[in-house]
Parts: sequence; structure tokens; C-alpha cells
Amino acid sequence: MYQIYPRSFADGDGDGIGDLAGLVRRLDYLRPPGEPWPDTPTLGVDAIWLTPFYPSPLADFGYDVADYTDVDPTFGTLEDFKALIEEAHRRSLRVIIDWVPSHTSTEHPWFREASSSRDNPKRDWYVWRDGKADGAPPNNWMSAFAKVGPAWTFHEPTRQWYLHSYRPEQADLNWENPEVERTMHDVLRFWLDLGVDGFRVDAIHRLGKDPALRDNPEIIVVPTPGTAGRRYDEDRPNVHGRVRAIRKVIDEYPDRMLVGETYVLDQRRLGAYLNPGEGVHLAHNFVFVHQPWSAAAIRGVVDGFEALIAPGVWPAWFFSNHDHPRLATRYDEGGQGAARARVAALLLLTLRGTPFLYQGEELGLPDTTVPPDAIVDVDGRDPARTPLPWEPPSSVGPGAGFTTGNPWLPMTDQAETINVHSQASDPRSMLSLYRRLLRLRLTMPALRSGDYRSLDTGETVYTYLRATDDQRFLVALNFTSAPVQVDAAASVEGRSARLELSTDPDREAGAELHLSALALGPDEGLLIRLS
Ligand code: NOJ
Repeated sequence: MYQIYPRSFADGDGDGIGDLAGLVRRLDYLRPPGEPWPDTPTLGVDAIWLTPFYPSPLADFGYDVADYTDVDPTFGTLEDFKALIEEAHRRSLRVIIDWVPSHTSTEHPWFREASSSRDNPKRDWYVWRDGKADGAPPNNWMSAFAKVGPAWTFHEPTRQWYLHSYRPEQADLNWENPEVERTMHDVLRFWLDLGVDGFRVDAIHRLGKDPALRDNPEIIVVPTPGTAGRRYDEDRPNVHGRVRAIRKVIDEYPDRMLVGETYVLDQRRLGAYLNPGEGVHLAHNFVFVHQPWSAAAIRGVVDGFEALIAPGVWPAWFFSNHDHPRLATRYDEGGQGAARARVAALLLLTLRGTPFLYQGEELGLPDTTVPPDAIVDVDGRDPARTPLPWEPPSSVGPGAGFTTGNPWLPMTDQAETINVHSQASDPRSMLSLYRRLLRLRLTMPALRSGDYRSLDTGETVYTYLRATDDQRFLVALNFTSAPVQVDAAASVEGRSARLELSTDPDREAGAELHLSALALGPDEGLLIRLS
């Protein structure tokens, strides 16, 4: 699953902002390999997830929706969206869109009505309360954005506070109100009828709050594993009935799916959203994203999740999205960011489950420095949202094939080497590594659907097997910047081990390896075929 941030993917009309027409023109880059375009080089993903493209005043770059059933003119029209679905499906690409059910823009007509008077019929579509006697907000809940502070804003004209889990321009919908729930279900049907293949459900854990709005036990801004399950403002038991009802709507249509933005930092609580047949099909695992670059830590999370999920549950793994620093920057402690990003690619694409790949990660794009006068996001996320470089600026100009205009956020200053065109023809590039890995997943049943079992090879090397009845791969990942040798022979029976791929572009595939003395270079990952 490839995540597209439409503002930064491809600009079709030269205004410096990506749009649907630009995206359609670039679809061939993404589609699965093979018929009917056997010779064109492609990345080779199965599906795309589009972050919001709905009409929005952009207080939170589209996550403040002002109309759930239309396209913002910046991106095009509903007709353009229909064309996108058709063109994507023609290329065997599924299309998942973002659904933002927990809050609307305060510019949404529903909120305008709700805020017009205390007795407006839409008043109860949002969460309104009187303040405390001393003039303080109704409770101690905080916005998820540190800069915002309390999750309540006082509305002077009607002299009550309204709840916003994010920015004040994003008012929380009241999911205690059945009319809200029904209306939001109809939004799903609107897009399902147009042929979308599923939804990424924004902030799904926020659909379940304490109806009594009790204070959190402490002031919580940034969630931690310690606060998971102890809060009244999210992930309450009432969320699961709501998820079940959403799933029922999806199941009215054949072959559609849900992936939850389940931001709960406790894997057991995460697993509760994945009840087979009733929950979301996939759940984003933020515990995984928050791990340090450590073999033991990451193995612990993967093994822990595999052990607790119910039979039939299918994991989903991701390292990056539009809310987090990019991989090559996040794990860079002294220049190893690029090599580690290659190890992470091997990990992501060989774990059991669906990998989510954020646009630009396939090029090893680092965060882009955004000068203070160009900052637009309230929460410091601009550096991971800058435009995708398609071609070298020396041949197409400073827009690097993303735009002929002025990009809305700065283009990376590394676009000369980090761009799709240059990397596509370079077998040593990050893009070539991703393409190879994606093709292996497509053609090797063990990597696609085989069992997973990790091995004990010490604290610094994460080693695991992926196996079906007749195919086996061993993955060994060195999380340190020193060479290391491990002995995997004790836990793996088999006669021969052959190197299928190394993340080190200088190491050739094909060599026979000895499992009792597997040598890994600094920041190197190996994919080994066993027989
Ligand atoms: C999660 C989205 O990914 C993020 O970008 C947004 O700010 C919040 N949800 C609020 O919708």
C-alpha cells in the first residue's frame, strides 16, 4: 500500500500544488508489473491511499473537512476523482481514501448551524459544554497538538465551550448522537458507490470518548505507553461498537477494506480493533513506529504483536507517514541514515503483513529543511511533506518534475540525485532496492503469506524466517554500524543458504552462505534463500 500525499505528489496545472490530474498522469509509476504493460519499469504496489482531498480551509491541511462528498478545487473535481478511480483500476491499483469521522472543519455547514444558537437542531452534532464555575474549560483534556493547549474553545456568541481533539478549527463530532453516526455512514456509501476500495479511518480511537467527559488522570498531550488505556478522551470501550457498525457498512459492498489510524500505544489495545469479521481489516501500529533503531526493540514489538493477535488477523507495518520524520532522517545518528533506511526497507517488505510505504521513502528522501517563513503546519510536520522529486532539476528546472510553478513547500535540495527518473536507471539506488523487494514479494509465496518466526541471534541482529511448506527465506538485519557475525545454524535446519539480496549495493547476490557463520557488514541486511 503506497501512501500518496496529494498536495506533494504531482502537480498537473502548474500552481505548485499537487492535484488529481497530476496524479493520474503519474499512475504508471506505481502499478503492479506485468500485463498489459510488461516492459515499463514500475514501483509495483497493489494499492494507493490518498490523504484528504476534500474542500477544506486547510487549518490542518485537509484533516479539517468542510464537505465530505466533494473535491477541493485545488485538487480538481469529482469528475477528476472518478477518472482517477477508473485509471487506477485499469492498472490493477486499488484506491483507498482517508475518511475523517472524528471532527469537521468549523467551516463545515454543520458546525455553522450548530454554533448559530444553543437550540439549533445540529447543536448536538458537536460536543458543547458549560465551563467550570471559575471560568475554566469543562475538563482537563488537551489537544493532540502541543501548541494548541486545551482541547476546548469558548464560543462567545453562545457562551459555551466546544471540544476539539486537534486544532480549534477542527470541532469534534458527537458520536453519541445516532444521527451523526448515520450521516457519517452515508458518507462512506457515497464513496463506495463511486468505486473506492476502502478507507483509512483517521483518528479512529477518538470515536470512543467517555460520555461523561471525566478528567484524564493527568494532563496528557503526547500519548505514551503509560497513558494508554488510562484516558477518558479516546479508546474507550464504546469505540468498538462504532467500529463494528462501520465495518457493517463496508461489508454491504464486495471486497472493500478498512485500515484504522489506531494511535494507541499498547499492542493489546490495538489488537482489540482487529476482531476478525467485526473490526478494521488492518490497523496501523504506532508502537512499531516509536521504536528506537534497535534489533531487540523492534523484534520485541513484532514478536509481541504476532503472539497476541487472534488467528486470522493480518498485521500492517509502516515506518513513516505524513505525520512523522522520514526514515533516512529519523534514524540518522552520524551519517548512517541512508544505509539504515535500506535495512528498514528490507524489514518492512519481508515482515508478515501489509507494508505501508509513504511517498518518497522509496527514494530514501530525508526530511527537507523548511525555513521559518515557509512553515505552514502547526505541529512541525512540514519537513516530511515536501514535494516528490521526479526528475533532476538540471534537466527540468527547480520544480524537479513535480511542478512547473513554485512548490507550496520547498523542494529538497538533493533532488539532483534523489528523484524517480535518476534512481530508476541506477541499480544501486534505493528505488531499485524497493522495486526488487516488491517483485520478490509478488513472486515468492513465503514472503507474501508465509509464517513468521524470529530467531535468537543476539541483541544487535534481528533474524527471522518466512516460510511456506515449500519455500523458506531467512532475513538477517544488522542494526549496528559495526560488522558482525551470527550463528543461525542451530535454529534453522536446511542444507543450503544462498544470498538473494543484500541492502549493501556492493554485495552481489547469488553467493552460498554458511548459516553457522553469517557475516553482516555495518548497517547491512540480508535476504537469504534456504533449501
Ligand atoms: C491524523 C492525521 O494523519 C493527521 O495528519 C491529522 O493532523 C490528525 N489525524 C487529525 O485529523
